[in-house]
Amino acid sequence: MTDHAISPGAAPEDTLPGKPVSASRTTLSHIMTAAETNLLGTVHGGVIMKLVDDVAGAVAGRHSGGPAVTASMDEMVFMEPVRVGDLVHVRAQVNWTGRTSMEIGVRVLAERWNESTPPTRVGSAYLVFAAVDADGKPRPVPPVLMETEKDRRRNQEAQIRRQHRLARRRAIKELREKRIAEGLNDDL
Ligand SMILES: CC(C)(COP(=O)(O)OP(=O)(O)OC[C@H]1O[C@@H](n2cnc3c(N)ncnc32)[C@H](O)[C@@H]1OP(=O)(O)O)[C@@H](O)C(=O)NCCC(=O)NCCS
Repeated sequence: MTDHAISPGAAPEDTLPGKPVSASRTTLSHIMTAAETNLLGTVHGGVIMKLVDDVAGAVAGRHSGGPAVTASMDEMVFMEPVRVGDLVHVRAQVNWTGRTSMEIGVRVLAERWNESTPPTRVGSAYLVFAAVDADGKPRPVPPVLMETEKDRRRNQEAQIRRQHRLARRRAIKELREKRIAEGLNDDL
């Protein structure tokens, strides 16, 4: 069974038919090589972040049916180091949709390339992508339809993150305006 959600803030003219989470869920896999290490000899965090952005971009493009750009990446967490010879899987799905943006949740798993032990969770991240038209302007996205209790929990958690992002941006904007009004402009 699926939920029928309407994108928050959607105008009637840009209400698109919903798409289930499973329609765009994607996994990318990559074997880590010595060319991808940091000075400690483990895999550079930036290499993992690139994979995370790549898989999230694929999910956003599939869900929105066209180009989508990274608007933000937050809560990138590395729980365990990734080593040369690890087979890394980055799994991503749409957690939440707004009018023109989507939150994509990414889980990073690693296993030895030549062993059959279960993969270990080594990281996770949440990214916001905005769907854009040919001029780079935001365009409406289909509402995501949750299919499982896990999808619904992820959607609820994504709404909390969205509220916090908006509140943080608003608070910082107000602080900067207040400082400028007080003559404390530091050329931001
Ligand atoms: C992301 C971008 C399209 C937003 O454009 P904009 O003119 O600010 O448009 P809006 O303010 O209407 O934002 C569009 C949507 O993105 C969301 N958004 C914009 N900036 C955001 C941010 N920093 N964090 C989270 N969401 C963001 C908005 O909330 C809005 O979502 P909604 O329609 O679902 O409510 C624009 O800033 C951009 O093109 N950035 C560069 C993206 C890029 O090139 N990424 C790759 C890096 S090299």
